[in-house]
Amino acid sequence: MSADTSSSAIGEVQGASLYDVDNPAPYIEAPRKRTSKTPRSTRGNFEMAAWLFMRLSGIVLVVLVIGHLLIQLVLDGGVSKIGFAFVAGRWASPFWQVWDLLMLWLAMLHGANGLRTVINDYAERANTRLWLKGLLYTATVFTILLGTLVIFTFDPNIR
Ligand code: HEM
Repeated sequence: MSADTSSSAIGEVQGASLYDVDNPAPYIEAPRKRTSKTPRSTRGNFEMAAWLFMRLSGIVLVVLVIGHLLIQLVLDGGVSKIGFAFVAGRWASPFWQVWDLLMLWLAMLHGANGLRTVINDYAERANTRLWLKGLLYTATVFTILLGTLVIFTFDPNIR
């Protein structure tokens, strides 16, 4: 019986240590260690990029949306000033065209990606997820394309 209680019992046989400085334990390669021969993961970083996009687009949207609400609904007489002439005046400037374009794209992509998450979380059947996301992506692409077309082809002299 060993009276030595100062060292761990691991690797000990009847009080004698199995390994020491002259007889070290064999080095066992970690099973998941990556080497140059390890195949590359087939999964990309899409979800991480989507997570980051939600945060960054959210920050930009705060500025764009609050600015939009102030200009459209608060300043300069509030909603009563809004009409064809007001819209035509604003879209005559590339600055407001880019503002509205950015707001359209970011809000649509942010909202669509948020809903994609909601669908993934709540729709339990694979088929339901497929159809809901198909509908979501169709509506998203349609709205982005139509909105972009309107911003760039708006004609103030239309009759
Ligand atoms: C105005 C500034 C906005 C900020 C700061 C913001 C921020 C965020 C953040 C950080 C998330 C991620 C939450 C999470 O992962 O748990 C999120 C989710 C979401 N956002 Fe926004 N967002 C904004 C505007 C919008 C707009 C304009 C829309 C709609 C077009 C929208 C629709 C959504 C949806 C549907 C989700 C998913 C909700 C969920 O996962 O439960 N957001 N938002």
